[in-house]
Amino acid sequence: MELVPMGPGFGVEVKGVGILDVASDGDAYQAVREAFEEHSLLLFRNQPVADDIQVGFSRAFGPLELTKVASLGAGSFYSRLTNVGLNGELVPVTDRQVLVAQANALWHTDSSFKKVPALASVLSARVLPGADGDTEFTSTRLAWERLPAGLQAKLADAIATHSYANSRDQIHPDLANAEERRALPPVRWRMNWRNPKNGKRALYIASHAYAIEGMDDRHARQLLAELMDETTKRDYVYVHKWNNGDVVMWDNRAMLHRGRPWDYSKERSMVRTTI
Ligand code: OGA
Ligand code: MN
Repeated sequence: MELVPMGPGFGVEVKGVGILDVASDGDAYQAVREAFEEHSLLLFRNQPVADDIQVGFSRAFGPLELTKVASLGAGSFYSRLTNVGLNGELVPVTDRQVLVAQANALWHTDSSFKKVPALASVLSARVLPGADGDTEFTSTRLAWERLPAGLQAKLADAIATHSYANSRDQIHPDLANAEERRALPPVRWRMNWRNPKNGKRALYIASHAYAIEGMDDRHARQLLAELMDETTKRDYVYVHKWNNGDVVMWDNRAMLHRGRPWDYSKERSMVRTTI
């Protein structure tokens, strides 16, 4: 296995080991798992991308999340991110599926709004729009390390509240529907996540986060916005330009990511599995 650095201080392309190897070979899994813990973002190119292969790969890392109510693929292991409807037609730009893409364009970490948050996400490209529709990543571990010691101390035991509705409400008041609001009440998380393998801490924030315990809401929102701005400065961002056959995996404890817009008159279809 060869690891080729990609992003500013995080992220590697994995060569010589593919997603089928990880699913079937314990040594390949161990090597990739170590790379995941260390580098936070992995890219596999030219993979045999298919639903069952993606699940086989993802499952090696732990139990998979069931896709939540009211999402495409709800109740299965697959989150389908697409601007194509059930009959193969492109949906209008006002459609919920496009609003979902716009919500994914806010910097976030997956499933921090759930009772059981996500360790990792695996995303594969199925149909690409030709240009744009990139996915961007930044390291919240490196962001934590850049914080002044005083702020690290202040955030060491700070607790933020996350909710699905908080990020969706930034896009459209009806994007989170009543069923989702009921199923996904706010949850509280410490604002840093310590990796149990290497002890490194990462800032744990997201578009889903909005309140900090013991702080008034205005100051909490301001601090969260400042942390988000600092973490996502352009110099710290890796931009992934997708090719067919790409499979990308990231550590939701140590990364923020966001999708970028594209020409919604073209199809973009992606499939995510979540560990
Ligand atoms: C995701 C996500 C962004 C994109 O799959 O979790 O945020 O570029 N995707 O599709
Ligand atoms: Mn996401």
